[in-house]
Amino acid sequence: MKYAHIVGWGHYLPERILTNDGMASIVDTSNEWIYTRTGIKERRIANQQETTAMMAFEAAARALAVANVHPMQVDMIIVATSTPAHMFPSTASQVQDYLGASRASAFDLSAACTGFVYALSMAANTIQAGAAQNVVVIGAETMSRVLDWQDRGTCILFGDGAGAVVLKGLSIPGGILASTLGSDGSGGDLLSLPVAYHSPLPFAAIEPSLNGHNRGTLSMNGRQVFRFATRVIVDSVQEVVAKAGLTMADVALIVPHQANVRIIETAAKRLKVPEEVFYLNVDRAGNTSAASIPIALCEAVEAGRLKPDDNVIFVGFGGGLTWGASLVKWDVTPPEVYIAERNWRDPRYVWARVKSRMRRFGRRLEGWLSGSPTPEARLRKTDKR
Ligand code: COA
Repeated sequence: MKYAHIVGWGHYLPERILTNDGMASIVDTSNEWIYTRTGIKERRIANQQETTAMMAFEAAARALAVANVHPMQVDMIIVATSTPAHMFPSTASQVQDYLGASRASAFDLSAACTGFVYALSMAANTIQAGAAQNVVVIGAETMSRVLDWQDRGTCILFGDGAGAVVLKGLSIPGGILASTLGSDGSGGDLLSLPVAYHSPLPFAAIEPSLNGHNRGTLSMNGRQVFRFATRVIVDSVQEVVAKAGLTMADVALIVPHQANVRIIETAAKRLKVPEEVFYLNVDRAGNTSAASIPIALCEAVEAGRLKPDDNVIFVGFGGGLTWGASLVKWDVTPPEVYIAERNWRDPRYVWARVKSRMRRFGRRLEGWLSGSPTPEARLRKTDKR
């Protein structure tokens, strides 16, 4: 019997900070309105170099360092994201390449803000089934690239960042003890992010709804989402605690999806637990969608909020609609030194990039020697037809 233990964690936040006052210079809002309605004071906004894949890589590299796991020992990489740069190659495949984790399978998972909890559950099941030993689970988002910066009801809420954990299969009981996942597609219109295809096809003629002004940007019914969120947090937490055969008194910490302080206050009241049981960093990071739980987890560990043998719950909710929770027995002592520096320049990862480019070059050379046309030449041919 294998148990899936969290043995490493890491996160990455862009350096650029956008405060509520800064937001008020973009849309008609104020620090007072945003803070009282959401608890958010500031969020991080990625620059051009800080792509979803790059931030996911940084978070994963830090998590692997904490876990003391070499990228070559990784069997699987799952990236939960709603903001990939491409539908394919997946963000996870890009991360696999950046890490030089050449033995790992890799795929993205789409469950909006619940994505990390879904991915954690998939990873734990895979380990428990004996199909993988070390799995990297990442939540990474560049929400700033999919926001309608004229819609003050949504753009004030979100931020960018990435968080990751390393799950390891061990025969010691503990780790992910129980999970619960749910979905209600009938509420898909309450929170949605249409895909923006840059296709030369006359899409509007086939699918007029895709021709809306907000194609490719996030839209939300705030009040309905608020009601949904408070209900499913309570239900998911109660369900996962029961599944693990525990009671609320056994729970040391809840790391919720960081959407809004008011949502958490309402959920805490309904669960009859003090608000302090919930770890919150939404004031500093905003809502980073699938990245919010692993980022908050890292900060909670660094703040000393988790001790060995504590039971911690991760609970998420979001577009789909989706929701879910995992109950984890925290059984590792944090290392004394935290890995905070940029990993991009680490010789291990520079070497991974060199090897990747050499493989690409090798493929091109092979194609050239065998006389097969380059992708550009193939495109030119198609254009002429
Ligand atoms: N600044 C100032 N005024 C704003 C504003 C902003 N950023 N956004 C909206 N308003 C205005 C509205 O235009 C409206 O004005 P009106 O009464 O003159 O029409 C008023 O504030 C109330 O708008 P409403 O949307 O009803 O506000 P609300 O109290 O429901 O708060 C949210 C809005 C988004 C903060 C709240 O609904 C919420 O937090 N929902 C959950 C969202 C969430 O967590 N989503 C992610 C889930 S993963």
